[in-house]
Amino acid sequence: MTQASVWAQAATELEHCFATHPTLAQFSAFPTDLRPQNTMARGLPARDLLTADQALSHGSSSSLRDAVLALAPVAHWLDHYRDSEIGDDFLNRFGCFCLVGDQGGFASDQLRAWLVYMPPHLHYPWHHHPAEELYLVLAGKAEFLRAGQDPQWLTVGDTVFHAPNQPHAMTTGTDPVLCLVFWRDQFETGPQLTAQEA
Ligand SMILES: [Fe+2]
Repeated sequence: MTQASVWAQAATELEHCFATHPTLAQFSAFPTDLRPQNTMARGLPARDLLTADQALSHGSSSSLRDAVLALAPVAHWLDHYRDSEIGDDFLNRFGCFCLVGDQGGFASDQLRAWLVYMPPHLHYPWHHHPAEELYLVLAGKAEFLRAGQDPQWLTVGDTVFHAPNQPHAMTTGTDPVLCLVFWRDQFETGPQLTAQEA
């Protein structure tokens, strides 16, 4: 498959997911202005961890999960927290690339979408952003933490919503987790680490 066809396959699967997952459909319509854009592949250590992580393919088959995993070699992996105090272990193991938005395979004025991968035993510290956000778990499981709400262990097909500037965090145990992350507004301001742990 060419690079363009790998992105196109992911978009097709994503559109199908918006049509069939009630919570995702309620969060946002699938963008009507999705347009392919050039992005330069860039690897980070997490790409190799994801590629070697056979636990991501356990369980029932998922064409969306497989289409997203196929993007790993062609995506531009991001290190948003490079200049923060988050620490080398996180930077060396946390994985993220954009599907829709800056450095993603598609542009849209209506939605942002990223892939997030965390290997086992990793903590994503408390952070917040003005955007309303929905996580959808594609593989594995993680404990999702939200300020003012009880922690939740979520697995394949589960979603969690983050309100504007609501601090949130996540932790993996013995399993990795693979998620899609969607923003529907307030695209200008990226995530910031929350100064005081909630
Ligand atoms: Fe977030």
